[in-house]
Amino acid sequence: MIKRGKKVTVIGAGNVGATVAYILAMNGACHHVVLRDRDIETAKGKALDMSQAANAARMHTIVSVAEEPEDIADSDIIVITAGSPRLPGMSRDDLLMINAEITKEVVADIKVHAPDAIIVMVSNPLDVMTYVAFKESGFPRERVIGMAGILDSARMAHFIHEKIGYGAGQIRASVMGGHGDDMVPLPKFSTVAGVPLSDILTAEEIAEVVERTKHGGAEIVGYLKTGSAYYAPAKSTSMMVEAILKDTKLIYPCAVYLDGEYGYSDVVTGVPIVLGAGGAEKIFKLTLNEDQEARFAKSVASVTKMIQVLKNKNFFKGE
Ligand code: NAI
Ligand code: 2OP
Repeated sequence: MIKRGKKVTVIGAGNVGATVAYILAMNGACHHVVLRDRDIETAKGKALDMSQAANAARMHTIVSVAEEPEDIADSDIIVITAGSPRLPGMSRDDLLMINAEITKEVVADIKVHAPDAIIVMVSNPLDVMTYVAFKESGFPRERVIGMAGILDSARMAHFIHEKIGYGAGQIRASVMGGHGDDMVPLPKFSTVAGVPLSDILTAEEIAEVVERTKHGGAEIVGYLKTGSAYYAPAKSTSMMVEAILKDTKLIYPCAVYLDGEYGYSDVVTGVPIVLGAGGAEKIFKLTLNEDQEARFAKSVASVTKMIQVLKNKNFFKGE
């Protein structure tokens, strides 16, 4: 197919991937959305359904399926949501290894067929998969960015709203660090229409918001039982895609490879960045207090530990 306008490929047409594709098709953010999944029939069905939705909405976006790896060629952005769920009897390390192998396989195709694309990683464990994509692609770090901070901040904003009952849409919550139990919600950098959170909530209430944010994903799994959240994850991912396509240079918390920032190297974690046509165009260094530094260090350490599991298994053979 001849390329027309912006092309976004979503690899993994499951709950998150299909919802990202649907949002992009419905808001006209790009001309062409391509779905790729190892289950080609399901991807075809979803692409057909979305194409018809686009016609119903009188949108110009084409949704198609990449049956062959070369169909991802010329993608401006590739969103990776491919992954295996945790199955009975599978340890966390087993799952880490399986998803790392899936990421490696997917990234090998990207390297060959879409070497100029920006990778937006979504698969879990997010920070480690972003690290794997960065290492395996050999792309500059600006072009390999993980989605988690926008989602975790949105969850925190929602929990703040549940406590106060006003200000919906005006709450700016801030979360840094890895996308896991050790993530670092930052009440001191959170406001409601510019009013500091500490002027609105008690220390105890803030502590409750922080705890609930850290387990925001698990709370939803507890209700859904057979899967994890996808509406907010997909919306957060589509916001990253749009910032890149439209070169908005908005500041978002995203997972990027650190090379000395905050005193860490050879690890991926969530930090505020400027997101534009060049990908992660700038990394911000927030001044953290002692407690925030300690929590950030703990979060980085848990990502490093998982990366080390892969290294111990000789996953990165070129190193
Ligand atoms: P899902 O199970 O609904 O979809 C995963 C899809 O990946 C399936 O359609 C499967 O067929 C496909 N797949 C597996 N191996 C593949 C391969 N080698 N090539 C192409 N496709 C392949 O899962 P869901 O809910 O869509 O989640 C996707 C991933 O995103 C999971 O790892 C999940 O934990 C993660 N996630 C991350 C979030 C974040 O904040 N970063 C938030 C929500 C989910
Ligand atoms: C979430 O936070 C599972 O990472 C996924 O919902």
